[in-house]
Order: sequence, then C-alpha cells, then structure tokens
Amino acid sequence: MNNLQMLKSYIKWYATSKNLHGVHSPFMYNFMDQCLYARQDKSIFEDIELQRARLIKNRQMLTFKDPGAGTRNGTTWKQSDFTSKSIRQIAKHSLQPPKYARLLHRIAGYFQCKNILEMGTSFGITTAYISKAVKDGNITTIEGVESIADIADGVFNNINCNNINLHRGVFSDVLPYVAVGTLPWDMIYLDGNHNGKDVLSYFSLLVKHINTEGVMIFDDIRWSPSMWEAWNEIKNHRQVSVTADLFFMGLVFFNPALSKEHFSLRF
Ligand SMILES: C[S@@+](CC[C@H](N)C(=O)[O-])C[C@H]1O[C@@H](n2cnc3c(N)ncnc32)[C@H](O)[C@@H]1O
Repeated sequence: MNNLQMLKSYIKWYATSKNLHGVHSPFMYNFMDQCLYARQDKSIFEDIELQRARLIKNRQMLTFKDPGAGTRNGTTWKQSDFTSKSIRQIAKHSLQPPKYARLLHRIAGYFQCKNILEMGTSFGITTAYISKAVKDGNITTIEGVESIADIADGVFNNINCNNINLHRGVFSDVLPYVAVGTLPWDMIYLDGNHNGKDVLSYFSLLVKHINTEGVMIFDDIRWSPSMWEAWNEIKNHRQVSVTADLFFMGLVFFNPALSKEHFSLRF
C-alpha cells in the first residue's frame, strides 16, 4: 500500500479497534491483560540490544539476491535481482523494534510454547528475544541469505542462545521438510517474503502442522494489496477461530473451542 492508502487504512482500523475495556471474550480479555499489555522488565534483553547496537554501527556492505518480495518505495515495490545493503541499513530497517520483539517474547511465554518456527531470521534479533521465553523448547528459524544467516549465527553464539536451529535456504525449499516435524508447532511467526500468494502457500502447508492451541503471527499484513488479501483469506479459513489485527501484525488462533471472531486491537 502507498502512504495515503496506509493512512486511510489506519484511520479505518483505529475507528474499530478496541482496548481492554471493549473486549468481552474471556480468551481475548485474558490475552490482552496478561500478555499484550503486560508490563515487562526490559533489562533481561540488554544483551540482545547490545548486539543490535553493534550491528547498527557496522557499515560493511552485503551483496545478495533478495529472496523476498523486494522493497517498497512510496507507491511501488520491486523484486530486485542482486542488492547491496550495509549491515547498518538492514539492522535499522528490517528488524522488529524492541516493542514488537518483546511482544513476541511474551506470546511465546504466555502460551508456554515449546516448538516454534520463525520464517525470516535476518540477524536473529527477534529470534533471540523469543529464545529467552522458551525454557525447555526449541526455535527453528529459516533465512534465505547466507551472509545474513552467518551474522545471525554470530549473534546466537555471542549471547549463548542454544535452543535455536538455524536453517539456510529459501522457504519454498526448506519448509517442506522442516514443517513436517513429529511435533506440531505451538507458534509460527512469518516475517519474510511479503508476497501474499507465497504467504498463502506457506499457510496452506503450515496449517496442517499447527497445534490446535497454537498461534500464527503474520508481520506486515498491510504491506501490499496482496498481503492484505492473503490476511483476509487466512481469517476466513475454516480452521481459524480467532484473529487479532494489531495493524502491523496479525495474530491467528486455531482453538476450535473458541467461536469465530475477529478483533482489531490497539497496541
Ligand atoms: C524482515 S526480515 C526478518 C527480521 C527478523 N525476524 C527480526 O525481526 O529480527 C526478513 C528476512 O527474511 C528473509 N527472507 C525473505 N524472503 C525469504 C524467502 N523466500 N526464503 C528465505 N528467507 C527469506 C530475508 O532475507 C530477511 O533476512
């Protein structure tokens, strides 16, 4: 979406979005109270934020083939063949800011997730946040650019994250064998390749392997018209019960005991 479409979309979302007092579903009320809006000690993430700060200072250039949907620039986006970006640029613009990284950490903890999949590792900053919430479980994360995955590996070593399995390769190659593990996924976080058609194909595969009490999280649901269409198709899927639209991020729950309901929540 271009900036004007995004602004219109925000106004529409804001007008219908709720805070804690506007929600009656006990499941969603408890989630908002104890997870979405929960207060948190930020000091436990200091080691990760030091890694982010170190990356933001690094002006070394990386040249790679972008495996995602390309870059959005005002009204257009393009899939480039090879692109050159500094580590600093990627660290400043492609990673979840601390507020959202902390939310992902809280979601993993609140639902006591043990088996987590992240699509789109980048430098592993958000992976590291999630890793801190998973005491006796594992995170599988997939990154399509070798040089970026190498840096993520370094981050995981520097802060002693030893519950992360990093897979290198494009999602379409890696997912078919990674997705079908013996355990269902408790949490799946998609933060790479914002092409709606591709996202739907990942969803169709992954929905067969999600725990019924699990959660899927989609980043940048309004990034492009195709992402927005994909989000709406996902909401209507028969296995999906509850969804929460946080404007930038969409949460999807599958518990069949919950009646189908779509929320827009302020965050
Ligand atoms: C937005 S970044 C992820 C940020 C990360 N989750 C964080 O917040 O710290 C998306 C990453 O996904 C990777 N990616 C995009 N499309 C991909 C694909 N089709 N296969 C594999 N990796 C892909 C990109 O190389 C990029 O590093």
